[in-house]
Amino acid sequence: MILPGLIDPHVHLREPGATHKEDWDSGTAAALAGGFTIVLTMPNTNPPVTDALSLDMALQAARSKARCDYAQYLGAGACNPVELPALAERAAGLKMYLDQTYGPLRLDDMTLWMEHLSLWPHHLPVVVHAEGRTMAAAILVAALADRPLHLAHVSLREEILLIRRAKESGLKVTCEVAPHHLFLTRDDIPSLGAGRGEVRPQLATPADRQALWDNLAVIDCFATDHAPHTLAEKDGPNPPPGFPGLETALPLLLTAVQEDRLTIEQLVERMFTNPRRIFNLPEQPETWIEVDMDALWEIRASDFYTRCAWTPFEGWQVRGEVRRVVLRGREAFHNGEVLAPPGYGINLR
Ligand code: DOR
Ligand code: ZN
Repeated sequence: MILPGLIDPHVHLREPGATHKEDWDSGTAAALAGGFTIVLTMPNTNPPVTDALSLDMALQAARSKARCDYAQYLGAGACNPVELPALAERAAGLKMYLDQTYGPLRLDDMTLWMEHLSLWPHHLPVVVHAEGRTMAAAILVAALADRPLHLAHVSLREEILLIRRAKESGLKVTCEVAPHHLFLTRDDIPSLGAGRGEVRPQLATPADRQALWDNLAVIDCFATDHAPHTLAEKDGPNPPPGFPGLETALPLLLTAVQEDRLTIEQLVERMFTNPRRIFNLPEQPETWIEVDMDALWEIRASDFYTRCAWTPFEGWQVRGEVRRVVLRGREAFHNGEVLAPPGYGINLR
């Protein structure tokens, strides 16, 4: 089956600052192996991407190392609401961390939310990490600023029901769900191990997971939230939150298609059509992926390109495999081999 090159609007590569977890090379190789031809990369690097200098630093690494196309988010901080708009056209969008996660970018003060949401150009994307009641507050502040808002990694029943109501009321909100919240729950944590089970938002209840499936129509995008940390870190004393996801998202979702939980049209809307529209991404000419819908295989992190060397889906049987990726006329991946060299990827901004 031929599908469009997929778009992942939520990816953490770790360069600059933590290339032992992932870098622009290994992360974009993993993207291609997973059927993604565009990744939008998050700003919670070290240093975080919050100004012209750090944006240049991230983009310089990307220019020489990325194997697929990309754009880089800017992070909202306490000191940068006034300076960011001048950089906005060069970024995938603005990312605002309103709840605790990995890295230093959390914004607690709602006056800062208001400043960022009014000053950032209203035609350019804003993504928020906002869980539970924080999500309700973020939707209100964006509505008061009369600007669109994209809600990252929705995981709870109360969140998806809130978004459904907000959309019914005509508010300009869109949202994404990560595969790990569609396929795992907190009941999986004992078998994963406590450190490996750490992720933000946390794995939720079976009722939360079911509510996501029951409200598929409300979900605009599937986004991996690919957040690689090494096994030594995950199994160590202070396990950082995050799961890798680039190489497991499509096979898990294709398996759901074959189990009649999802149609292939719904998958393409959420992994191509909608992210392309929400994030104003250009067409990639002569770009497609070829998947073998019948291939039955077992997920093994040792086969993956991500540098973090583990997956929460180890040993899962899935049906559906990426065979070939053609990116802008060039064979970028074929039968397990990444063929696009570092530097082939272009900055879509
Ligand atoms: O689990 C997470 N890990 N959630 C996030 O929001 C950030 C991410 C990371 O960067 O590791
Ligand atoms: Zn994230």
